[in-house]
Amino acid sequence: MGRLVLQPEIGCSPYARRLQKLDQLLVATAPLWQPHPFKTERPAWCETHPELTRALLGLDEAALAHYSSDNEALIRFIAGFIPQLAAIPSLIALPATEHKQRDEPAPHLGTGVPGRKWQQIRSLYHAMDEPQHAITEWCGGKGYLGRLLSMQWQQPVTTLEYNRLLVDAGRALADKFSANQQFQLVDVLHDQPGNYVRDKHTIALHACGDLHRELISQIIRYHPPRFTIVPCCYHLGRDTAYTPFNRGLTLQLSTEALRMAVNETVTAHHNEITKRNQDMAWKLGFQKLRERLTGNSDYYSFRPVPKAWLQEGFKLYCQKLCEREQLPLPTAVDWHAWESCGYKRRHDVMRLQLLRHCFKRVLELWLIMDMAVYLQERDYMVSVGVFCDKTLTPRNIMIEGRALPLSGYNGATK
Ligand SMILES: C[S@@+](CC[C@H](N)C(=O)[O-])C[C@H]1O[C@@H](n2cnc3c(N)ncnc32)[C@H](O)[C@@H]1O
Repeated sequence: MGRLVLQPEIGCSPYARRLQKLDQLLVATAPLWQPHPFKTERPAWCETHPELTRALLGLDEAALAHYSSDNEALIRFIAGFIPQLAAIPSLIALPATEHKQRDEPAPHLGTGVPGRKWQQIRSLYHAMDEPQHAITEWCGGKGYLGRLLSMQWQQPVTTLEYNRLLVDAGRALADKFSANQQFQLVDVLHDQPGNYVRDKHTIALHACGDLHRELISQIIRYHPPRFTIVPCCYHLGRDTAYTPFNRGLTLQLSTEALRMAVNETVTAHHNEITKRNQDMAWKLGFQKLRERLTGNSDYYSFRPVPKAWLQEGFKLYCQKLCEREQLPLPTAVDWHAWESCGYKRRHDVMRLQLLRHCFKRVLELWLIMDMAVYLQERDYMVSVGVFCDKTLTPRNIMIEGRALPLSGYNGATK
């Protein structure tokens, strides 16, 4: 009979130690990052940290814009009030992956590929280990990345994708470029994709939530020689809460909390910013009005509001929402006052939520390290690094692994 191998707890590698520190920090600071000022007008930390609250609420628009776009500056600023946050920069620091001197892909290969996607793909090509095996592109869309890799490295590529339209478009492109790339119409969550992973170098660029988690399960099961994973959209999946890969972690994350790891302040044009502000202010204004009408101050969870409603004035916007929610309106409503109230709430939300923003990358690193440590302890040499600037994509963390000889552990399934 085979030896019973116990599933190990988190080990003591540098990644494992970091994971433990991230776990401790996130658990200890949960009251700071969990409450969302959009939902809770004054989170409890406003009471316990009055100076920080005053300082945040006092930020002018220029300072707000600065701290919203510069996370390092934001963390330094807030650490002046909450020293615990001074630990964050070293916990989220990652090395940039070495930019390997490789033949630059011919520009015509990028024809038809959206600009930023092409740059992400080029960055990944320069950053990743050169594949020594046939490549599987996991959830590859039209297979842009796979096409480039097959042309640059003369490795056969199999692109897995479940959207037939993307598969057809990808096949047409592969034919046009005579790429050594085939497509498989595969649902990686249901079609037992193990054979595409076994013995291959599997590459997943921006595979969302369950898609990258499924790949990790497949890697553990089939122990392929190499992999390269760039995760994204951690909150997308079948479960309502996150199940860590490793035992021994304390933090528990809901899907809602996972979403925070990918919520970015997207840079936008002036018009879009004005629209976004209006959208938030009107929602908050309606929420206050509803609170007064119902006497219920619980958070009201909005079903999507049609964009067109934003063009018809605040009064009509609220009337339509009331109709949809079957909420009777009194005859006299001071619409101007409720709209102003919404804008005032928005002013505060934008400032108070800066505290949460300090923890976005911390959460992401916790998720990344959860995967890295799990793979490391199951016979992979794992490296984690940043493969491109965050302006190209905020989901810029790459996890690479090389198989080590199997140590006999084989009980790992998530
Ligand atoms: C965020 S896109 C990334 C595409 C490509 N890797 C890239 O970086 O441009 C995720 C892709 O996964 C595909 N996908 C989603 N669920 C899938 C599944 N269950 N099986 C296979 N592909 C899936 C989507 O159709 C989409 O093309």
